[in-house]
Amino acid sequence: MSNWKKRLGAGGLALLALILAAVGGSAHPAPEQDVLGEAKIPAGPYVALTFDDGPRQATTSVLLDGLAQRGVHATFFVIGENVEGNELLLQRMEGEGHQIGLHTYHHKPLDQLNAAGFYAEVDSLRATLTALLGREEFMLRPPYGMMNAANQARAAAPIILWSVDPEDWSDRNTARQVSAITADVKDGDIILLHDIYAESVDTALQVVDALMAQGYHFVTVEQLFAIRGRTPENGKIYRRLPPGD
Ligand code: NI
Repeated sequence: MSNWKKRLGAGGLALLALILAAVGGSAHPAPEQDVLGEAKIPAGPYVALTFDDGPRQATTSVLLDGLAQRGVHATFFVIGENVEGNELLLQRMEGEGHQIGLHTYHHKPLDQLNAAGFYAEVDSLRATLTALLGREEFMLRPPYGMMNAANQARAAAPIILWSVDPEDWSDRNTARQVSAITADVKDGDIILLHDIYAESVDTALQVVDALMAQGYHFVTVEQLFAIRGRTPENGKIYRRLPPGD
């Protein structure tokens, strides 16, 4: 059994409780119960917000406040250099039910690294996060989405890319980014933003408000796998998790 299967299996009930708590805490109605009295996972649509390149105290803490107000959980692919000095922020993220993942120690393109370079970038960050958070399974988002087959095999983690990218770094224009995301989004999408920009934090919170009003539920990538009944596989690349796939 893979570590991920164990993690999602053992944490299944807690995960479901988290999802339902998030749903119950939002504007959505309480989940229905089926004839056996088991809570049903709402039909969706579901979407995962993901944030790369942080954390950054000034912007990430504002984002965490806004997500907490809305009962929404997200996924943060962090850079090792930015973990240093932001340990409390990372522990707050974990404690508030967000998912934390790997984005390398120094934001290096992974398709250009040999084995030693790969392990220096990925395993060092994994060890840093394990020391801080007390667990070993972290999903990986390669910087720039760049990866090659050799390093894919070395990843020891599911590789999470994205399906909606407003290129928030390019213009820092919240109105444009919100339009780009809400026009494009579908059930099971993974949205890419960067929590190091104040404008992107505004974008994220406006997108949450707009899509929740349309019935969307916001979940972590890990929760999205659980909702779809899928076990993430190490070394495999995922861009979105649509229903019925
Ligand atoms: Ni990045």
